[in-house]
Amino acid sequence: MLVALVLTLMLHASLQAQENSFTINSIQMESLPSWEVANGHRLTLQCLVDISTTSKIRPQHRVRFYKDDVLVYNVSSREHTESYVIPQARVFHSGKYKCTVILNNKEKTTIEHELKVHGVSKPTVTLDKKEVTEGGVVTVNCSMQEEEPPFFFKIEKVELKSKFQVVKTKREKSTNQNFVLMEFPIEEQDYVLVFRCQAGVLSGIKVQDSEFVRSEHVTVQESFSTPKFQIEPSGMIIEGDQLHIKCIVQVTHLVQEYPEIIIQKDKAIVATSKQGSEAVYSVMAMVEYSGHYTCKVESNRISKASSIMVNITELFPKPKLEFSSSRLDQGEMLDLSCSVSGTPLANFTIQKEETVLSQYQNFSKIAEERDSGEYSCTAGIGKVVKRSGLVPIQVCEMLSKPRIFHDATSEIIKGHTIGIGCQSENGTAPISYHLIKAKSNFKTLEMTSNDPATFTDKPTRDVEYQCVADNCHSHPEVRSEILRVKVIAPVDEVMISILSSNKVQSGSEMVLRCSVKEGTGPITFQFYKEKEVRPFHQDIVNDTQAFWHNKQASKEQEGQYYCTASNRASIMGTSPRSSTLTVRVFLAPWKKGLIAVVVIGVVIATLIVAAKCYFLRKAKAKQKPVEMSRPAVPLLNSNSEKVSEPNVEANSHYGYDDVPGNDAIKPINQNKDSQNMDVEYTEVEVSSLEPHQALETRATETVYSEIRKVDPNFMENRYSRTEGSLDGT
Ligand SMILES: *[C@@H]1O[C@H](CO)[C@@H](O)[C@H](O)[C@H]1NC(C)=O
Ligand SMILES: *[C@@H]1O[C@H](CO)[C@@H](O)[C@H](O)[C@H]1NC(C)=O
Ligand SMILES: *[C@@H]1O[C@H](CO)[C@@H](O)[C@H](O)[C@H]1NC(C)=O
Ligand SMILES: *[C@@H]1O[C@H](CO)[C@@H](O)[C@H](O)[C@H]1NC(C)=O
Ligand SMILES: *[C@@H]1O[C@H](CO)[C@@H](O)[C@H](O)[C@H]1NC(C)=O
Ligand SMILES: *[C@@H]1O[C@H](CO)[C@@H](O)[C@H](O)[C@H]1NC(C)=O
Ligand SMILES: *[C@@H]1O[C@H](CO)[C@@H](O)[C@H](O)[C@H]1NC(C)=O
Repeated sequence: MLVALVLTLMLHASLQAQENSFTINSIQMESLPSWEVANGHRLTLQCLVDISTTSKIRPQHRVRFYKDDVLVYNVSSREHTESYVIPQARVFHSGKYKCTVILNNKEKTTIEHELKVHGVSKPTVTLDKKEVTEGGVVTVNCSMQEEEPPFFFKIEKVELKSKFQVVKTKREKSTNQNFVLMEFPIEEQDYVLVFRCQAGVLSGIKVQDSEFVRSEHVTVQESFSTPKFQIEPSGMIIEGDQLHIKCIVQVTHLVQEYPEIIIQKDKAIVATSKQGSEAVYSVMAMVEYSGHYTCKVESNRISKASSIMVNITELFPKPKLEFSSSRLDQGEMLDLSCSVSGTPLANFTIQKEETVLSQYQNFSKIAEERDSGEYSCTAGIGKVVKRSGLVPIQVCEMLSKPRIFHDATSEIIKGHTIGIGCQSENGTAPISYHLIKAKSNFKTLEMTSNDPATFTDKPTRDVEYQCVADNCHSHPEVRSEILRVKVIAPVDEVMISILSSNKVQSGSEMVLRCSVKEGTGPITFQFYKEKEVRPFHQDIVNDTQAFWHNKQASKEQEGQYYCTASNRASIMGTSPRSSTLTVRVFLAPWKKGLIAVVVIGVVIATLIVAAKCYFLRKAKAKQKPVEMSRPAVPLLNSNSEKVSEPNVEANSHYGYDDVPGNDAIKPINQNKDSQNMDVEYTEVEVSSLEPHQALETRATETVYSEIRKVDPNFMENRYSRTEGSLDGT
């Protein structure tokens, strides 16, 4: 019963709560003690909520704390105030904070407050060792316990003896670990070291650095000492003394192997040692061994060095080789003399390269070419022997008369390249050859041996060459014989022509001329008639032209001609040929006359026969009416007139068609123009066939008809009629 009552009350209350109104008046955020705190301090962030309600009970609401928009704390509450506690504020806590209250579906958020934490806590520094030898390594561990990565570590290596001078600084970023390990190599100048570490922490977008934290001291032990020189003999060193240059180093027992000791003079290594604590350079003292010596002791990264100046006093100066001349002709005297200034008593040698020529101070001989070379001499007093500088001496052999020749296997053709060789077989090289062409300098070649010098040229006509050779010998240049070169010019521009007109009267002389513009004889000229394979005439002459004579030209000589010319320069089977020449042969006037007489005779005879036949027919037809015979006369007349028309055609056919080319037409026209009683000839084909067939090519017999033009109008008419009746027959 009681339970039921309580349940009813609760239900009533909750129903009431549901029906009640709520509103969030305000929400505020506060930081205790303040929004800016020192590192390590306790910090309380509070969210103050003010809610109004019609209900008697404070409603339950949710409070959320955010840092840089990330939820950091979430609590359900009925209180006014909710707190978020940071026991030790660190730099990484810096940021923008806000809080939110949620009541049913209502929500309110504070403005953002920036929290600043000042000061970074100190890092811790530890070392892997307290004692180290040169060349070793110290590992430094710098760690940050209380902050959160990323960290920016900076470690410094400090040399204590040199007043806390920072000798090395290293930086490293650690994104997910809170420590870094850095290795520091130990150099030869390190004695007592300390390492300092600083850590940087990200605060917002800026980095806040901690103070530097120092490590314990590290003492550095030398692995070996700086080397020292020992020179023997001590005091003045004179040439000839035995000289010892010694370099000594002290090595600690800690190192496993000896360092390398090197003695250097300038850049050259003169002595080394890898076993033991010293290196020695022993040599007989000479002036050139004076100078700076350096001793280096090296063991991987560690290198220590010292240097010394060595002075050696000269015993006597270098000898000098004197010579008569550095360039001699073969056969001249070669005189060499060795001397040392101020010291006449010495042992001398005179040498060519490594061969000793003389044990005396002086040396003489008659120079030969093979004596060319470099000479020197030595002077010795006791153990000290000195050599002079090198003296180059050249002995020149005179050049032999140069040989001149060319490389052409056959005759030289114009425009082709030939090689002209010049060679002096004997005589000292280098030899300079000058090629003289037609009395003037053409080309120059320098030869370093006695091999032939080869010049190239393209002569275009007969030419003379000569070689001039010169070398170091004092004799003036020598000249070769003269080389005469005959140049064959190939035939060029072959031309054919006819003496007189190219219309030749039959029976008169016909002369053809074949010529070339250029070409060296003998030239072979060949005359050809078109379409004939073999030449009808050939002539080999030492001239640029050749002729072919024909005393009596006949119709047979009519045609087209060409010629070829070739000489030794022509390539086999390709002789250049001329263009073609057309030659016409026409009948002599008396022959035409004779033919005309014959033709006229034949015509008259034919007319007589025709007349006879006509009268015979007329006699037979006397019984027949006259009217019937009448039309026969106009018929005949009209027939003869009609025939005259195609006759013009016939005339043109014979006159033009048979003569190709315009040349043949011209004279006919000229003849027509002139009033002279010129001869016009017509070739007439007389045939026993039908008149029209006779005009065609199937001629059986050719007859020449001659026409004298006195009055062109009258005569032409007359003759055309004559021809017409001739055709008509
Ligand atoms: C806050 O806490 C409540 C209860 O513990 C939980 O239901 C809710 O999801 C949390 N909110 C967030 C944003 O984590
Ligand atoms: C470096 O020092 C830190 C703190 O002393 C330690 O936690 C870490 O293990 C050390 N790192 C190494 C590699 O020794
Ligand atoms: C070596 O010679 C130079 C000059 O030639 C002189 O200045 C220097 O003092 C000499 N040193 C010794 C050790 O004799
Ligand atoms: C060598 O020649 C020089 C002159 O050339 C002369 O003065 C000298 O006496 C000669 N010496 C000997 C040893 O012949
Ligand atoms: C020259 O050489 C001879 C024999 O080798 C020697 O006895 C002599 O002392 C040398 N002279 C000089 C000046 O060195
Ligand atoms: C070159 O010299 C040799 C030997 O001295 C001689 O036999 C030859 O005839 C010479 N030749 C000429 C071209 O002088
Ligand atoms: C051409 O001339 C040369 C020399 O001048 C002569 O030897 C040759 O016999 C001549 N040839 C002819 C075909 O005349």
